[in-house]
Amino acid sequence: MSDRQLFPNMRVDDLLEELQDRLRTLMAARDRIHALLEAVVSIGRDLDLETVLRRITEAAVTLVEARYGALGVIGKGGTLKRFIPVGLTEEEIAQIDHWPHGKGLLGLLIREPETLRLAHIAGHPASYGFPQGHPPMDSFLGVPIMVREEVFGNLYLTEKTGGRPFDADDEAVVTALATAAGVAIENARLYEETRRREAELHVFAGVVAHDLKRPLTTIQGFSEMVHQDIAQDPGQERNAECLERVTRAAGQMSRLIDDLLTYATARDTTLNCAAVDLNALVREIVDEHVAGARAEAGPVPQVHIDQLPVVHADLPLVRQLLGNLIGNAIKYTRPGHPAHLDITATTVATDKGRARIEIADRGIGIPPGEHKAIFTGFHRAAAAYSGTGLGLAICQRVVERHGGTITASDNPGGGARFTFTLPAVGDPRSSR
Ligand SMILES: Nc1ncnc2c1ncn2[C@@H]1O[C@H](COP(=O)(O)OP(=O)(O)O)[C@@H](O)[C@H]1O
Ligand SMILES: [Mg+2]
Repeated sequence: MSDRQLFPNMRVDDLLEELQDRLRTLMAARDRIHALLEAVVSIGRDLDLETVLRRITEAAVTLVEARYGALGVIGKGGTLKRFIPVGLTEEEIAQIDHWPHGKGLLGLLIREPETLRLAHIAGHPASYGFPQGHPPMDSFLGVPIMVREEVFGNLYLTEKTGGRPFDADDEAVVTALATAAGVAIENARLYEETRRREAELHVFAGVVAHDLKRPLTTIQGFSEMVHQDIAQDPGQERNAECLERVTRAAGQMSRLIDDLLTYATARDTTLNCAAVDLNALVREIVDEHVAGARAEAGPVPQVHIDQLPVVHADLPLVRQLLGNLIGNAIKYTRPGHPAHLDITATTVATDKGRARIEIADRGIGIPPGEHKAIFTGFHRAAAAYSGTGLGLAICQRVVERHGGTITASDNPGGGARFTFTLPAVGDPRSSR
């Protein structure tokens, strides 16, 4: 096809002008797509719903060169529960009697969520007029915003600059923006929901910690006190035994509350990561157990600790992790036998920038087929031993929060072996 056929009966000058015109249009279209993409990216970056809504409206106004824009959020009963205007000055806003209720043209868009493009607002049969003090508006473009297949609201644009009506390109741009807006709004809502739940959880955790644990401490304290008083009294053996049970049950309940709290919060609390020297931490935990065993005149755990790395992690959470794993390794031994623990560290080429720690014991071992299930909350595989079944679930959460993994296997020498990874410090690969 020759140029002659494309532009019949045209002189070279006209032809050049026409070509330039088309080039300009193309470049304008390219700039617009660019601006649209930028708007979409900038809207998606924010997670606060209020900011997201304002950004969407501002982006729409800029993209189609409208003088005014607004975003109406539809509430129950098909009215506008929020109205976010852009382009009006403070004085203009003060002049307006009330925000639109969602009657007239806006009501039509609410009832029939379809794009509406008008050269003159007043010419439309549904037009209801403006509230008192409202600036005059003529050209109009209304586009619905869908969130999860439900109408969330509408974008309204009026007064395209230069007195022109909005065209099909404007409509396409705002429709694309509205689609992106739907996703951004959904994200912002999910984020707000998560934050609300997190706040609720913290309140709940606080209530549990104080209001449940305080009376429990009272029960423990007083039952121990009375127990001491009557322990030596002849004829009080039965009462003393009952009180001992009360104390033990209260202790179990206290541990369960602690575990539940840690389990619930380990998923959501913000990580405060710093360098954690595992040598010092493991030593501290092991010493506590050894001292405890000595105090109770029980068999003293035999623990071999390798040179352990420094990790980049949240100290209280890692303390929980090691406390649970070492506690288990010492607890799940045959009665009367001392625990044997080997705590070692390896760096494996495939664990990029991660330290891999192993805690192996020679205790009762994990029953076949239970190696994965024991990480599930409340799952226990050793009925003869007391516990809540939450320790390993907490361990898994802690490790996963740090981007690592944890597994259980059989210790080749008999017993169980737990292996987990944490981000290493000082590993040349981790700083790359
Ligand atoms: N070192 C271990 N050796 C043998 N069994 C273990 C060991 N650690 C955990 N288990 C098994 O995994 C189950 C879950 O452990 P955990 O979540 O810490 O709960 P709890 O210790 O309160 O029972 C335990 O009931 C036990 O059956
Ligand atoms: Mg445990």
